[in-house]
Amino acid sequence: MNAKLNIVPFVSVDHMMKLVLAIGVERFLIDLAAYIEEDFRRWALFDKTPRVASHSIDGVIELMPTSDGRLYGFKYVNGHPKNMREGRQTVTAFGVLADVGNGYPMLLSEMTILTALRTAATSAVAAKYLAPKGADCMAIIGNGAQSEFQALAFKALLGVNKLRLYDIDPAATRKCADNLAGLGFDITSCASAHAAVEGAQIITTVTADKQYATILTDNMVGSGVHINAVGGDCPGKTELHRDILLRSRIIVEYTPQTRIEGEIQQLDPDHPVAELWEVMAGTAEGRSNNQAVTLFDSVGFATEDFSALRYVRDQLADTGLYEELDLLADPDEPRDLFGMLLRAARQD
Ligand SMILES: NC(=O)c1ccc[n+]([C@@H]2O[C@H](COP(=O)([O-])OP(=O)(O)OC[C@H]3O[C@@H](n4cnc5c(N)ncnc54)[C@H](O)[C@@H]3O)[C@@H](O)[C@H]2O)c1
Repeated sequence: MNAKLNIVPFVSVDHMMKLVLAIGVERFLIDLAAYIEEDFRRWALFDKTPRVASHSIDGVIELMPTSDGRLYGFKYVNGHPKNMREGRQTVTAFGVLADVGNGYPMLLSEMTILTALRTAATSAVAAKYLAPKGADCMAIIGNGAQSEFQALAFKALLGVNKLRLYDIDPAATRKCADNLAGLGFDITSCASAHAAVEGAQIITTVTADKQYATILTDNMVGSGVHINAVGGDCPGKTELHRDILLRSRIIVEYTPQTRIEGEIQQLDPDHPVAELWEVMAGTAEGRSNNQAVTLFDSVGFATEDFSALRYVRDQLADTGLYEELDLLADPDEPRDLFGMLLRAARQD
């Protein structure tokens, strides 16, 4: 029997940063991508549901649960584009991994940093199957919190080493370029989204807005390009002109959720799309030829967070980078919960 049934390992932001730095950002992204891909390959095992979203004028708060029958995970995550102007993150998150057998949480973790890592790793996994072979140049439109993670995942998993950056706020582009300096990229800061996509074989859109935006128009997307559309992830919030969608091979994570939240909310509900797991399994086509435009319509799915929590949990024993959180009541006799309270009162 575990002597400390009350304790749940807790990975704070501080410990997450230490963990990522101890492993190395690119190694972390590669290893995390392997967990994400492994779980996409076990797709049929998972409980799947579109995430539970609570929308308001300013943003959204979402719960993202899933289980493979052995482990259960969920993430709490928000999306508030206006937050950045008030000194807060647009996206912040934490999550739990639990044992299906007894329902006890096994891990509580910060997931703001982990979400940026898992989103980037998932994008790069999708691009492995969809981007043109040998692609080494990526445009990143939207140079906020997610952007450096995206760049590093594409470098680590695909060998992308040329970046073309654009943000409506030049300070964001400067921040992104400065943070990535010396990490093996040839970086061009661009004055417009049009300029950024010139010569890029991969286009990542990762802007934050709370409306139908048109970050990319049809004329900006040449043949053979892979689009990694990350920022449009809520009802009423998209980044691409509809015409781009109509000539793209569209790959999604979980169709019922992406129909609500992704770029494809602009299309008819029966417009053909394929799911990433199908492309991995070889049962659906990804990129058919060098001229095809491929689109990963990323919104973020619960299995990716489950994979990320699983990966973090597997690092804890070796690194010790967690705290012991007294989270679960554990009376000496399981039915004597009230007695535990009485004994605590006597000790005070
Ligand atoms: N698909 C996923 O799994 C996933 C995961 C995490 C975040 N996201 C989404 O990604 C987006 C970016 O998140 P973040 O944490 O980097 O936000 P952030 O607020 O830190 O950065 C967003 C950046 O986009 C820029 N921007 C806004 N409108 C623009 C435009 N028209 N052209 C160019 N740049 C523009 C802003 O100036 C800002 O620098 C959010 O919408 C978020 O919800 C998606």
